[in-house]
Amino acid sequence: MSRSLFLLLFVLLLDDAWSAVSLPKIFGDHMVLQTNSEYGARAFIYGSANPGEAVTVDAPRGPYYTTANEHGRWNVMLDPVGASSKSYNITVSGEEGNPIVFTDVMYGNVILCSGQSNMVFAVNGMFNATAEIAAANHPNIRLFKVALNTSSTPLWDVNGTWELCSPTTIPSFSAVCYLTGRFSMDMHWGDEPLGLIQSAWGGTPIQAWMSPEALAKCPSTSPGGQSQSLEGLDVGGPGDPSVLYNAMINPLVGFSVRAALWYQGEANARESSINSTNAYRCYLTNMITSWRDVWGIGDFAFLFVQLAPYGSSTADAVSYVRQAMLETLPSPGGDIDTTGMAVIIDLGEADHRVHPQNKTEVGRRMALQLLHVALGLQQPEVNFSGPSLVRASAMSNGMVVIEFEYASGMFWNGSHGCVQCCKGASPVQVTSEERTVDNATWFNTTATVQGTKLIVKPMGMAQNSVPKAIRLNFNDFPECVLFNEYLLPASPFLAAVETAKDNVFDVFPVVNELKTPPMGFNSWNYYHCNIDEQAVKSTADAFVATGMAKVGYEFVNIDDCWMVERAPDGTIQADPVRFPSGMKAVTDYVHSKGLKFGLYTAQGSLTCQKRPAAYGHELQDAATYCEWGIDYLKIDGCGGMKHPNRSTSWQLFKQGFDKCQETTGHFTVMSVESCGSLADVCHWYAPSYANLWRTCGDIQATWSSVMSNLDHNNVMAPIALMGHYNDPDMLQVGNVGLSVTESKAHFSLWCIIMAPLLAGTDIVHMSNETLAIMTAPEVVAVNQDPLAKQGVRVSPANATGPEVWARQLHDGSVAVALLNRGEKAMMITATWDEIGLHPDSKATIRDLWERKDVGTATGKYSSNVESHGVFLFKAMPTS
Ligand code: GAL
Repeated sequence: MSRSLFLLLFVLLLDDAWSAVSLPKIFGDHMVLQTNSEYGARAFIYGSANPGEAVTVDAPRGPYYTTANEHGRWNVMLDPVGASSKSYNITVSGEEGNPIVFTDVMYGNVILCSGQSNMVFAVNGMFNATAEIAAANHPNIRLFKVALNTSSTPLWDVNGTWELCSPTTIPSFSAVCYLTGRFSMDMHWGDEPLGLIQSAWGGTPIQAWMSPEALAKCPSTSPGGQSQSLEGLDVGGPGDPSVLYNAMINPLVGFSVRAALWYQGEANARESSINSTNAYRCYLTNMITSWRDVWGIGDFAFLFVQLAPYGSSTADAVSYVRQAMLETLPSPGGDIDTTGMAVIIDLGEADHRVHPQNKTEVGRRMALQLLHVALGLQQPEVNFSGPSLVRASAMSNGMVVIEFEYASGMFWNGSHGCVQCCKGASPVQVTSEERTVDNATWFNTTATVQGTKLIVKPMGMAQNSVPKAIRLNFNDFPECVLFNEYLLPASPFLAAVETAKDNVFDVFPVVNELKTPPMGFNSWNYYHCNIDEQAVKSTADAFVATGMAKVGYEFVNIDDCWMVERAPDGTIQADPVRFPSGMKAVTDYVHSKGLKFGLYTAQGSLTCQKRPAAYGHELQDAATYCEWGIDYLKIDGCGGMKHPNRSTSWQLFKQGFDKCQETTGHFTVMSVESCGSLADVCHWYAPSYANLWRTCGDIQATWSSVMSNLDHNNVMAPIALMGHYNDPDMLQVGNVGLSVTESKAHFSLWCIIMAPLLAGTDIVHMSNETLAIMTAPEVVAVNQDPLAKQGVRVSPANATGPEVWARQLHDGSVAVALLNRGEKAMMITATWDEIGLHPDSKATIRDLWERKDVGTATGKYSSNVESHGVFLFKAMPTS
C-alpha cells in the first residue's frame, strides 16, 4: 500500500470513528451569518449527528445546546449579533470526536443569487472588468459559489467554499450578485459584512429551480408550461423539473438570507401569448412563495431583474416574460408581497447579445430595489423606481391618458446607444380589443409627456372605436424608452384602458395666466447684447409713462448676453458689470411697476452669443429663476452640447417651473425655440411644455423677413390653442427698415395670427407714430380676443399680390386683413365664403385702425390697399 493511500484510509477511519457531527458545506471558514439585529430573521446552524447525540455550538452569545433527532438532524437558532467587521470562531462539537471549528466567521447580511446565464455572467465579462476586478479588495464581502449539480431527489449538501472577495476571487463570480451587494454597501450598509451565495446555472428554465410542490400549483398544460417546457426549453443547461431545486437550493434551505436575487427568464421566453405570461407569473410567484415557506424565516425580500432587450428568436416572446415579472410585483390584493424588480429595458446592446455587458447599472438598480424592498427605504432617500403605471383612461376624443407615479421629470429617450430612436418610433400602441386577446390589431400612436402623464393619440384607428388596451415598449428590442428624472426607465407593460372619466381639456394644463398671447418687450431686436439694468428699468418706466402698460404690455424681457458665467456650484451668474444690483433686484424693480420680467437662455450648453446656457443645469436654473421671481423664460436652441431629444430641456424646465408654482404660486411663461415643420413641433409636442414656440428664423426689420415669418407661421396654425401660441418672433415696429405702412401691416397681421406682441424697439425713445401703432386699441383687441383662435390666410397664397387673412372672434365677428404684397396699390376683395360668414349675411364693416364703421356689406367687401399695406376691418354680421 502506498504511503498516501494508507494515510487517506487512516483519515477516513478516524473521521468515521471520531466525528459523527457534520454540517453542510455552506457552513465553513470565512462564512457570513445573517444575524443583523435590525432584521427579524436570525441565523441557524444545523447539521447531522448520531440520533439522540448532544450537540454544542459555541458561538457569540452562546454556547447553544441541542440534541440530534431520531433522523440524526439538529438545528440551533443563534441570537442576533450586530453586524461589524469583527470575526469570530464557531465551534460545533458532538459527544464524541473532534470538534469542528469554523474560523473567521462574520455577522452581516446574506444574499442568495440564482437564475440562468445572466446571473452566472461573471465580473470578468462585464464592461469595465479590469477596473472592477482591480478594485475588488473587500475582505468583508464573502463569496460562496454553489457547484453545479442536478438531482432527482432533494440533496442535503452542496459543494463550495467561502472565499474573501479579492481581485483573485471576484473575476469568475456573478457580476450582478456582486455589484448588487457592493452598491448596497456603498449606498447604505457601509462596511457591514456581506455574504453572497451564487447558485445559478446558464440556460436553465425556471421549472428546474422549483420544488415539485411549487410546480404542482401551476397548470402544466399552458404554453411554456411544465410538461411541454421540459424538452426544448433547455438552451444550454438542465431543464428537468426540480433538478436544480433539489441539488442547488434545497441544501441551502435554512441558511438565513436577507434577500434573494433572481435573473432568469430567457429560457422561458418561448411564446408571444398571454398564456405564456400567465404561466411564467405562476411559476415565479410559486417559486418565491415556496422558497420562503421552506426557509421558514418569513417573507425575505425577493428581487428580480426584468429581461433586457436582446433580439430573441421568437418575436416579442420576451415581452410576455417581462409582463409576467411586472405582474409578480406587489399589487393591491395581489398574490405576493416584498418583491421588487430592476427594469433594464434601456440596457440592451446594439448587437442584440443575450448577455448585455453593462452589469454595473443592473447591479445599481437591483441595489436600489433591495434597499427599498428589504429595508423599506423610500424616496427621496432612495430613488428606486422608474415611472410606474397607475392607470390608462380613454378620453371622449379618442385619446388615452396614461398616469404614472415615480414620474417626476419624465421624458422619452433613445436607449442602447440609439440617439434618433425616439424620432418616429411608436413606443405606445393601442387596440380596440380586450387586453387578454392574443394577436389583437395594434395601432401606433404619438405619445407625448405631459407632466406625469402620457397623452396618447392613436394613429389610423377608426374614429369611433374605443381603445381598450394599451402597451408600452411591448416588443423584444424597444429603443425609445420612458425615463424619469433619476434616469430610471418605465417597465414595458400591457394594460387595460379604463373608460374616460375626464374631459379632454384636462390634457393640457389650463393656463389661467396666459389666456391670450403675451404682450411686452424683448431687448434683442433693438439692443442685441447692449443691455443692462438701466435699459430694463427705463423700459419698464416707459411702459408705464406712455400708457403701453395700460394697453396690456406687461413683460419686460431681456434676451441673450445678460449672463457671463456659472458659480462653482453651477448657479448662473448675471453680468456683474451690466447688472450690478443682481437679477433679483432688477426683477423686484420691474415688479414694483406692476409689470413682469423675463430672461433668455438656450437648451444647448451655449447661447447663440456663446454665453453659458442651460444644458445639464435646467432644474438648477429653474430653481434660480424661481428664486429671482422671473415671469418669462425664452429657451433658445443654440450651440455646444445638447440633449439628443429636443424636448428634454423643455421638459426639465417645465418640471422646475411646475415645482416653483406648487411651492410659491408663481407662474413662469415658457417660450421655446422649435423652428420645425408642423409635424416636427407635434412630434416634440412643444404645446405640452411651452406656452410659445418659435416657428421660424430671426425676424429682421425688412418687409421680406416679416412676410417670410408670416408664411412659416401660417402652416402651424392648427396647433395653436389658448395658453399655447405659435411665435413668429418679436415685433420690428418702429425699427429702421420698415415704413409706417409696413409697420402697420406687420402689426395688423401679428394680431390676426395671435402672435405674441413683444415690442422690439427702443421704448424709451420711440416716436409717437410707433407708440400709436402698438397701442391701437381695436387692433390690439383682435390679438387679445378671448376666443384664442389663430387667424389664417383664407385666400390662395400670393407672394407678390393680394391675400386675405381672417380671424374668428369671440363675438361672432371676423377680423379681416386685406394684404397687398405687391409693389402697387390694388383693390382687394374678401368674400364671406372665404372668411367664414354666410354668403347672404349682411355685416357691419368697421375700420379697426380708424376705429369707425365704414358701412355694411353683404357677401363680400373690397378696399383699395396700398403697396405693402393692410386694410384691417371687422365684419360683424347683422343678420
Ligand atoms: C437667436 C434667436 C434670437 C435671439 C438670438 C440671441 O437664435 O432666434 O431671437 O434670441 O438668438 O443670441
